[in-house]
Amino acid sequence: MHLTKEEERMLESDNPAVRKAMKLLVKLGDIYGAEEMVEVKSAQASGVSYKSIGDPGIKFLKEFVDEGAEVSVPTFANPAGMDLERWKEMNISEDFAEKQREIVEAMKKMGITIASSCTPYLWSNLPRRNEHIAWAESSAVSFANSVIGARTNREGGPSALSAAITGRTPKHGLHLEENREPTHVVQVDASLDDISDFGALGSWVGQRVEDGKPYFIGIGSAGTDELKSLGAAMAASGAVALYFVEDITTDPKEVSNLEKLSFGEKEKKEEYDKLTASEEPELVVFGCPHCSINEIEDIANRLEGQKVKKDLWVFTSKAVKAWADRMGYTDIIERAGGKVLSDTCNVVCPIEDMKYEKMGTNSGKAANYLPGFCEQDVLFANTTELIDKVIE
Ligand code: F3S
Repeated sequence: MHLTKEEERMLESDNPAVRKAMKLLVKLGDIYGAEEMVEVKSAQASGVSYKSIGDPGIKFLKEFVDEGAEVSVPTFANPAGMDLERWKEMNISEDFAEKQREIVEAMKKMGITIASSCTPYLWSNLPRRNEHIAWAESSAVSFANSVIGARTNREGGPSALSAAITGRTPKHGLHLEENREPTHVVQVDASLDDISDFGALGSWVGQRVEDGKPYFIGIGSAGTDELKSLGAAMAASGAVALYFVEDITTDPKEVSNLEKLSFGEKEKKEEYDKLTASEEPELVVFGCPHCSINEIEDIANRLEGQKVKKDLWVFTSKAVKAWADRMGYTDIIERAGGKVLSDTCNVVCPIEDMKYEKMGTNSGKAANYLPGFCEQDVLFANTTELIDKVIE
């Protein structure tokens, strides 16, 4: 692998953390056959929740800090295992909270912004088209590659952190133009009326194309919320990190020889049925990926003057929550009996240690992950049905 003079200096750096980070990246580059490194403009650190990384993860982060780790490009943290302020309301144990704080403190010492969100592109970290970045959370990776047109592989925790420290990542995979062409055409004939329909479509496609790059035709219109739902579900049921949508994202060069899939009303219904194991959730969650301000406004409008009879949690970033507070949406949702939580999410908080066994979600990603990661029976349904469930 060819290294520039500066990259070679990093390999020999007096700073052990820089040395370690560059060594890891060179090793990864060799494994993936990269010929050189590429400079990245931002990084996204995953492995923030204590539930995900446990004590070995804390040890790794603390050692990195002691060795002098400091990020050299803007780096944003993924969701943590709890709302960093309202964790007691989530019934998080003191022990878990203490461990979570240790992770956050270590990351802060490295200069990582504790954004604790999977949607940094909604309020701060918006890459440019063709910009190389090193992001780690799969839905954000998919959004950055597909909707924004930036370039990132799906990084792991240590590789994203190493990229953050060195400002480099091995140039392979989706950093290369030749790897950014579609592999399948997906003809969509089903109606897509709610973000859950986009989640159902994504979940169905991800299982079939795995780490392929689907090109969707027939979707018509889709906004930011719909696209983040679609990409998140494909990244969860499969490993899709780049997709195309006719007339919305960049157009691929050639699609005539690709394998074709068709998603109609029958496939949509089958996906809802497949992802549903219980019709009676004890807790309904929104915000996977983290809610935008528009999604929170919509939930607030639906709950205005209502009282929830089941638990309802809405997950978002701290930044979007501040807008929701200012606009009075948080107040409306919480007066109805729900909670607007930030810094964490339905999958990376220790929901399996709480009293819940059945959850409702409008997210195709959450519906894929909740049974395995959180031991939950899921109701996968659209926003209207879920709101009806909590206020009935
Ligand atoms: Fe984000 Fe958590 Fe879902 S990280 S995409 S809200 S599983």
